[in-house]
Amino acid sequence: MKTKSIYFVTGNKGKFVEAKKKLSEVGLEVIQKNLGYPEIQAIKLEDVALYGAEHIQKQTSHPFILEDAGLFIDGLNGFPGVYSAYVYHTIGCKGILKLMEKLKGDMREAVFRSVFAFGASDEKPSLFVGECKGSISIEEHGEHGFGYDPIFIPQGETRTFAQMETEEKNRFSHRSRALDKLIVFFKNL
Ligand code: IMP
Repeated sequence: MKTKSIYFVTGNKGKFVEAKKKLSEVGLEVIQKNLGYPEIQAIKLEDVALYGAEHIQKQTSHPFILEDAGLFIDGLNGFPGVYSAYVYHTIGCKGILKLMEKLKGDMREAVFRSVFAFGASDEKPSLFVGECKGSISIEEHGEHGFGYDPIFIPQGETRTFAQMETEEKNRFSHRSRALDKLIVFFKNL
């Protein structure tokens, strides 16, 4: 792997901690850069990540990654999806639980999706997608993590992401699965 150090363009400390832990295991140094980029309103996470990456490419020649993620809830027809950040900052986990008060069983199933964009020099950014299936809890549980972690239970588990340490969340998470693909890509560079 030629790339030894990479910027993670994000203002989200939680995302950074998870990516740093994962990528350090393969000898990649990750540096958090809060450069800021326009997050366009699009119907696909891929488009948001790609637009952001093309913007960052104009600001730095250093290899970088950035991520757009979202929580898609079956019983809410995929909501909040691409609106996940806005919904988190407005109604939060409590608001989502309230919207779902009457939803049971399958209707509580959900998927977290993560799209990483990797950019370097002038090449078109590459995208890496990861998913984690699970369900939405009835109440908030746990103190770890960030965002919707207190209400998301990954498939095969009984605890929410917020009840797990970073290392354990990384065994399941959408972010970790997208980063697995990025690691394979780096190995082949
Ligand atoms: P972003 O646009 O990628 O920053 O994420 C959209 C929203 O989803 C934000 O409110 C995040 O807090 C939330 N989010 C993204 N990834 C995770 C995660 O791994 N756990 C919990 N919430 C997340």
